[in-house]
Amino acid sequence: MAPALHRAQSIAQLRALARRRLPRAVFDFFDGGAEEEISLGANTAAFEQARLLPRVLTDVSQVDTATRLLGAPSALPLAIAPMGAIGLGWRGADVAVARAAAAAGVPYTLSSAAHSTIEEVARSAGGRLWFQPYMLRQTEFVHGWVERARAADYEALVITVDLPVGGNRERDRRNHFTLPFRLTPRNFLDFASRPGWSLPMLLRGQPVMGNMVGLAGGSGKTTSAGSTVGSNMDASFGWDALQRIRDHWPRKFIVKGVLRAGDAQRLAAMGCDALVVSNHGGRQLDGAMPTFDALPAVVAAVQGRAEVLLDGGVRRGRHVVQALAAGASGVLVGRGVLYGVAAAGEPGARRALEILREELTRTMRLCGCRSVGEIDRALLAA
Ligand SMILES: Cc1cc2nc3c(=O)[nH]c(=O)nc-3n(C[C@H](O)[C@H](O)[C@H](O)COP(=O)(O)O)c2cc1C
Repeated sequence: MAPALHRAQSIAQLRALARRRLPRAVFDFFDGGAEEEISLGANTAAFEQARLLPRVLTDVSQVDTATRLLGAPSALPLAIAPMGAIGLGWRGADVAVARAAAAAGVPYTLSSAAHSTIEEVARSAGGRLWFQPYMLRQTEFVHGWVERARAADYEALVITVDLPVGGNRERDRRNHFTLPFRLTPRNFLDFASRPGWSLPMLLRGQPVMGNMVGLAGGSGKTTSAGSTVGSNMDASFGWDALQRIRDHWPRKFIVKGVLRAGDAQRLAAMGCDALVVSNHGGRQLDGAMPTFDALPAVVAAVQGRAEVLLDGGVRRGRHVVQALAAGASGVLVGRGVLYGVAAAGEPGARRALEILREELTRTMRLCGCRSVGEIDRALLAA
């Protein structure tokens, strides 16, 4: 492992390494949120406002972080969130993260807006794989993805419901960042200042979004960066269409992007195996409720009929403990791992997961929890 990576002791330090390596426009596309970035900041801030009440004098010489997610074993109570276009940060990032997840023993979610194809990830990574198909207007194309995911043995579909249209990502507008990105007089200096990133891109060309090839005559290239697939989203996608997908997918079914108790109740009743309390990492509706604050009402509404996962702002093992104490079965991690892979490829993604595992283990010990099952509501101060 490169010395800088080895020295990185926190997700914040991996973020700093990614920032140093990437052109600003690319870093901002990964790091940023919508509009004033209120929800982006509030996700992590909500964890920091909660206080822990540790149990003392328990024997924590042996601590087990293993759990079950969606009915199957996971070495940690976390999975990788779907992230599109991350191959711009590191060529082959999707496979790199999927491999790191498999090595860490946690599920990986492939986005339909990733660069690597459904089949490529299944072939190269191993481990538990989930697939997130965006609900595009081209429904036949979407059904094709679902069939491919079934044929490639993905165990779960993740349907993201908080993106009827793309969010308003102002950092991207300010940076004149489009997908595919174009070199213009306005952003030339930015790209020129990061030759380690720019030269290989110039020589080998930009990666193509493999799963988008063939979409409406496209080449896998899309035009708006604010939301890569935003311009093709089916804004009319609703409950009936969701039910049809559920009926045609015999395996595990996850809906991501839920904040309201009423929606959660209805999703549990229609047979979802899990919900992800998510505001898309603050990239969609700015001002949306922080996920840690929205979690308790969703957990109460679901009444154990579906697993409740949470994402948004998880940057520390402590945050995982807090989410579990508030009733989640596990968390999804997005940028936390993205910073690692963008800093240093697969070793960077592995380092991110190692940091989270070490922090989780230490926090469990400090809280007097020997197993994930012992992380309960009593750990959180009222
Ligand atoms: C660069 C980037 C790309 C993303 N692409 C997708 C995507 O294709 N599909 C999706 O459902 N969510 C996508 N998300 C949202 C994540 O799945 C997740 O909800 C969010 O990142 C969680 O917040 P965190 O980054 O603070 O962990 C993306 C997030 C980032 C940072």
